[in-house]
Amino acid sequence: MRNVIILAAGEGKRMKSSVPKVLHPLLGRTLLGHVLAAAEPFLDHGTVAVVVGHGGDQVREHLAEVAPEVVAVTQAERRGTGHAVRIALEAAPELTGTVVVLNGDIPLLRPDTLAALVHTHEAWKASATVLTAEVADPTGFGRIVRNRGGEFSAIVEERDATPAQRAIREINSGAYVFEAAALREMLGKLSTDNEQGEEYLTDVIGMLAAAGAPIVAHRSPDATETLGANDRAELAGLRAIMRDRINDEWMRSGVAIIDPATTWIDVTVRLERDAVIEPNVHLRGATSIGEGAVIGPDTSLIDVVVGPGAAVVRTHAVSSEIGPQASVGPFAYLRPGTQLGRKSKVGTFVETKAATLGEGAKVPHLSYVGDATIGEHTNIGAATVFVNYDGVRKQRSVIGAHARTGADNMFVAPVHVGDGAYTAAGSVIIKDVPPGALGVSRAPQRNIEGWVERKRSGSAAAQAARAALDAAGGEEEHGGAGQVGETLPRDEQ
Ligand code: UD1
Ligand code: CA
Repeated sequence: MRNVIILAAGEGKRMKSSVPKVLHPLLGRTLLGHVLAAAEPFLDHGTVAVVVGHGGDQVREHLAEVAPEVVAVTQAERRGTGHAVRIALEAAPELTGTVVVLNGDIPLLRPDTLAALVHTHEAWKASATVLTAEVADPTGFGRIVRNRGGEFSAIVEERDATPAQRAIREINSGAYVFEAAALREMLGKLSTDNEQGEEYLTDVIGMLAAAGAPIVAHRSPDATETLGANDRAELAGLRAIMRDRINDEWMRSGVAIIDPATTWIDVTVRLERDAVIEPNVHLRGATSIGEGAVIGPDTSLIDVVVGPGAAVVRTHAVSSEIGPQASVGPFAYLRPGTQLGRKSKVGTFVETKAATLGEGAKVPHLSYVGDATIGEHTNIGAATVFVNYDGVRKQRSVIGAHARTGADNMFVAPVHVGDGAYTAAGSVIIKDVPPGALGVSRAPQRNIEGWVERKRSGSAAAQAARAALDAAGGEEEHGGAGQVGETLPRDEQ
C-alpha cells in the first residue's frame, strides 16, 4: 500500500497574508494542490493525509473542495516536521507499506520525479529515500552529509551545521519515501536537541542510516523542482518557472506561443495543435482552446471553451463557450453563460451575459446583450442594449433567426422578435414583433428650415449653411438614402 502525508501546518509568516502559505495560487492550483497532484498518479487506495495547523479551517475547506478523499490531521502546535508526521501516523494506526512524505511548499515537484523516487525506494527495498538536489545557493536548506564512500550519512539543518557542512551544495528537497514500520519506530525516538527545539523529520533518516538500514539519497536532475517560496517575491519566481515549463510543453505538442514570457497558462488548461497564442494572454481554470484558434493579444479567458478556428482578440471572458470559427473582440467582455454559435461574432465594445448567439449571428459594435437569445444569421445593429433588468427582476428576450435589428435599439425584456423581422434604428422595442414585420418606435422627424441663420446668425455654422444653400441654387438639400433602418419607416408611410 502506498500512502502520502503532506505537511502543511506552517504559517508562512513572510508571505504577510491572511491566507495560509500552502493556499496561495500558482497557475491553476494552490501550492498544496500542486503537491497533491504530484502525488496522485501513483496512489493505490492508500491513505492521503494532510497535516494542517495555521489557517487549518481554510486548508480543510480547500481540501474538501479539491480532494475530498484526503484526511486532514490537525497539528495544534508547530513542533517540527517530525512531530507533524508522528501526529499523522498516530491518526492512522493501521497504515502500513510505503509512506511518501512531502513538504506542502514544494509545488514544482513533478509527478514523474516523485514516481521515480517511489520506484527507486521500492526497488532498493530502502527504509528511507530522500530526494536531493545540487544547487548553486543552498541557503536555508538542510544539507546532505555523505561519508567518505559517498554514502548518505545524515541531513543537517543550516542552523545546526558546521561551516564545512554549510559549504555542501547538495540539499534536502523535502520529498521523502519511507517504509512505514521504520518511520514509526524512529519517530518515537526523536529528540528536540537542536537549534530550533523541534522534532526534525530529517533526523529519522540519519538515525536509520546510523542503525545500518538501507537509505537512498536520490538526486533530482532538475534542481528547480525543489524550490519553495517563503515570500511573495519567491512565489513570483516559482510562477515564472512554472509558466516556462507549461509553455514549453504546449509548444512541444504543437501550439504556437508567440511570446512565452507574457503567456500565462494554468496547468488545468487544454490546447489543441496549431492554436496560436498571441502576446499577453492569460488562460485560466477549465479553459480549452480548439485547433487553429487564435487567442490574443491581450486576452484573459477563465473557464472558457473555445472552438476550432475561432479568433478572440483583446477580450476578457469568463465561464463562456465560443463556437468554432466564431470571432470575438477586439475589446469584448463575455460574462458567465455566454454561448456563441459557429461563425458567430461578438465585436468591438460588446458585453454579453447569459447570452446565446446562433450560428452566424452577429453583434458587431458597442452593445450590451444580457439574458438574450439571438437566432441564427441575425444581425444586431450597433449600440443596442438588451434591457434585461427592471430594477427588481432580470428577464430574457428572444430575437429570431435571420432578423435585422436597427442601430441604437433597446429591447425591453421580456420581448420577442420573430424570425426574419426588422426593427428601425433608434427604436425602443417593448412589444413583440411578429415574424417578418418591421418594429418601429420613434417620433417622426421634423426639419425647421432656416433655424440656424435666424438663431445663430453670424456663426460658422450659419455661414456654412448659407454657402451650401447658395451653391445649390437656393434649393433645399434632402440628402441621399440613409441606413436601412432610416429609410424603411418612410417607405412605410
Ligand atoms: C525543511 C527540512 C529541510 C529541507 C527543507 C526543504 C526539516 C527539519 N527540514 O526545512 O531539511 O531542506 O524543508 O524545503 O524538515 N510543517 C508542519 N509542522 C511543523 C513544521 C513544519 O506541518 O511543525 C510543514 C510546513 O508547513 C512546511 C513543511 O512542513 O510545509 C516544511 O517546514 P519548513 O518550516 O518550511 O521547513 P524548512 O525549514 O524549510
Ligand atoms: Ca520550507
